[in-house]
Order: sequence, then C-alpha cells, then structure tokens
Amino acid sequence: MLNIIGLDIGTSGVKGLLVSEQGEVLIEARSGYQVANPRAGWAEQDPGDWWQATVEVLQKLSSWAQDNDAEIAGLSFSGQMHSSVFLDEQDRVIRPAILWSDTRTSAECEEIEERIGSREKLIQLTGNRALEGFTAPKILWLKNNEPENYRSCRTLLLPKDYIRWRLTDVKNMDYSDAAGTLLLDVKNRRWHPEVIAALDLDQNILPPLCRSVDITGRITAEAAELTGIASGTPVVAGGADNACGAAGSGLVREGRVMVSIGSSGVVLAPTKKFEIDPQGRLHLFNHADPGSYYYMGVMLAAGQSLSWIKKQILPESWNYDVLNDRASKISPGSESLIFLPYLYGERTPHADADARGVFFGLSARHGKAHLARSVMEGVTFGLKDSLELIKDRGIKINRVRAIGGGARSSLWQQIVADIFEVPVDLLEVEEGPAYGAAMLAGVGVGLFESLQEVDEKLIKIKSTVEPKQPNSEKYLQLYQVFKSLYHALKDIYPDLNL
Ligand code: XUL
Repeated sequence: MLNIIGLDIGTSGVKGLLVSEQGEVLIEARSGYQVANPRAGWAEQDPGDWWQATVEVLQKLSSWAQDNDAEIAGLSFSGQMHSSVFLDEQDRVIRPAILWSDTRTSAECEEIEERIGSREKLIQLTGNRALEGFTAPKILWLKNNEPENYRSCRTLLLPKDYIRWRLTDVKNMDYSDAAGTLLLDVKNRRWHPEVIAALDLDQNILPPLCRSVDITGRITAEAAELTGIASGTPVVAGGADNACGAAGSGLVREGRVMVSIGSSGVVLAPTKKFEIDPQGRLHLFNHADPGSYYYMGVMLAAGQSLSWIKKQILPESWNYDVLNDRASKISPGSESLIFLPYLYGERTPHADADARGVFFGLSARHGKAHLARSVMEGVTFGLKDSLELIKDRGIKINRVRAIGGGARSSLWQQIVADIFEVPVDLLEVEEGPAYGAAMLAGVGVGLFESLQEVDEKLIKIKSTVEPKQPNSEKYLQLYQVFKSLYHALKDIYPDLNL
C-alpha cells in the first residue's frame, strides 16, 4: 500500500502526517518553535528553526514507516504565507524571516501604491491591495532599512519553498503562495512585469513558478541521510496554508465556505472566476486546485488571541480543556464583555496596523472565565466581518466548514454557529493544512486524479453544529457594538505610537 506525507510549516511549529491512499492518517508528528517579537508589531522566525523541526518530524514519520513497512510515494507541503526568506549568493539566510503577522511595513505599503500610481491600479493589476503582511512590502522594507542585506539578497523564498529547497536542492514557488507576495499576476499566473518594474525590484530574485500539484524535485542523498526518507522520493510543490486547508477539507467547489481558526483566522470561499473586489477588501489568490482562485478574509490574531490570554493572564493550571470548561459555564455574550482581537493590528476588514486589543464593558462581576469566553467571541465577531464581505461578493452562505485548532473546541464551534447564524460542519479527518498538503502529494504522484476526486472519495462530514436562536439574537446585538467600537477608536489608536 502506498502512502503520502503532508508537512505544514506553520507559525507555532511543523506538523507532519503520514496518510494512506485511503486517506487515513497513520501517524502524526509535531515539533514546535517560537515567534520572536523584537519590537512592537514585529514578528520574526529563524528559517533554521523550521528546518530543524522538519528534520525531527520527518525522522519520526520515516522511522514509523520503516517499522510498519509503509512505503512513502511522495511528500508535499503547506506553509505559513507571505513570510520572507532572503538568501545570499551562497544560499545563506541573510536575516530572520519577517512573518505574515509582522506589521512594520506600513510606509512601504504606501510607497507601493505611490509607485504603481494608485491603490485602484494596484488592485486591478494584482487583485489585491498592499497590506503589511504581504511579501513585496517586506522586500522594500529591507531595501529602505537594511540596504546591505538587500544588496546581498539573490533569492526570495517563502517558508515551505525554503524547506522544499533544502530537501531537493531545487528552488520554486507555487502560484498559491506566490499570490501572497503581491508580485504575481494572479489572473494570468506569471510574475507581474509591471509591478516588479514599478517597485524597481530585480526579477532574478524570484524563483520559477509552478503548480501546487507539480513534482518539483526529489529527496537528495544528503536529505535522505538526515530525515530517513528514501533518496529519490518525489517531492510535490505544495501550497499556501490556507489553500491547503481548503484542499484538505473539500473546499474545491464554488458555494462552499471554510472558516479556519489557527494562529490566524480565515474565512475562505473558492471561485472559478477572477472577479476583483474593486476596493480589495478581501484577498483574491490562486487556489492550490489548479486553475481556480479563492476570496479570503484574514484576521491576524485568532488562535493567537486565545494562546495570548492563556499564557499571559489565565492561571497556569488552566490547560485548554479547563479553559473551555470554565468558559462554557459563562452565558453567551460574556455578560456584555466585548474583546477586540487586534493584538497585532488587523488585516480584514480594517487593514490597520495601529489597531490594538481592547476589553470593553468590564465590570466587577467579570472574572477570568468571562475574559476567556469573550476572547473566543471577539475573534468570532472578527471572522463574521469577513463572512459579511464574502456575502457582498454575491456568495450565498448556508453553512460553513470549520478547520484549525479552534474547530476542536466544542464551545468555539457553537460560538461560530451562533454568531454566523449557520450550521457548522465538522470533518471526519480534521487535520487542517497538513492534510491538504498530503492530498497535493497524492495528486502530484498520481494516487488521486484531482482534488475533486479527493473531495468525493475521502472528505466526509462527521457532525454538524446547529446555531441556537436565542444565542444568535444576543450575539447579533453585541456584534453591532463590536463593529461600532473599532470605528469609535480608530482615530485614537495612532496616539498610542509614542
Ligand atoms: C494569510 C495569512 C495567514 C498565514 C498563516 O494571508 O497571512 O493566514 O498564512 O500561516
């Protein structure tokens, strides 16, 4: 029997899955790392940490495969999007990667619009507006702030491309991840000559483009020695983590909507047509499913808000089970305590790097469990903002599929159903982007014909969480307050930049 490996190079760690051709997860391995925040708004990681974690994870998977006579037909990747790996002439990493959640590049976002001519023109060219997390502003930041590093840069890679290169010696970038650089002609699937020229960038630093399902290389002898994966094993390009999350949960058909609560929060809807939102409020990127696209709203701190409160505020004895249990005893709406989840600023819908987190409505009645619950509710209100924008694109939303760490909390599932006012479908195999990466490996090496076939044969709904009317009514009232809070505060936020 043949098997495939999916690796997710995430923000909190690497997760690897060994999956059978029947879609069953045989074994899972993880290895974690930290995000460095050297200044407010900055978020960095050392690509060497991703590599170490990948080697550990692959060692675990390959030794299990050997012990169990499980043949590995291929592997592929999902990766945190946008985060910049700069390599010099000798292919050495020049500086820590600047992550998707880093918001230091506001000035560069303005510079990009000026260089292109206007925001509207940029959206017409790329389908997207310039946002701090995207990669092009990071390249300009390097040019403006670390000119020596910029001069020595010969290659730009994204996290999973860096890992793929270290395993195969071949550099590529697939369309779904390249879209998040802001340098791609998303519609026509090529690096965008006009954008690259306007930004005065050297196109030679950009690797060749490929599809997520293409075999781009094979495990080298050196990587085989380190990881235990046989030399010559086919390696498939893989995709952006959100595209992979979608691929692994049947989000390859128009009309379906995914909500993902991982480090970031995402609402995503696939589309066959390339139809720009003229204001660029949603991202419009290439799907890992060849030839299609998706609309996406992204929150910077979804799971990250909950892990923040767990680590910084709640008692150490509160693991996630305790936290969920305590928060579930608080009534919906947390007795009118509202959390604004803007710990890193926000992307969708505000595109505002200055925004910050807020607890609004604190009273002497509120305790730790209220805070925890209102964080989950505040994040879900933020996701509803994206849901509303997707509805504005004319997409009807009758139900959503939930993935990511948040989808594992039955409390959070109920909160999503109640706030979105639609049923939430949960999948039998809920392994998020790493599972989608394994499916891309399977399509790439020919075990499956297409992601549509994967959807038909392997993706099954396990259960559905129905919204509860009285909760939804309460949340609808609080959502109006949630929305007006940002507008009340947005002009004051910049005053915090002292
Ligand atoms: C998407 C984004 C995040 C990261 C998380 O645009 O920035 O969802 O991909 O890894």
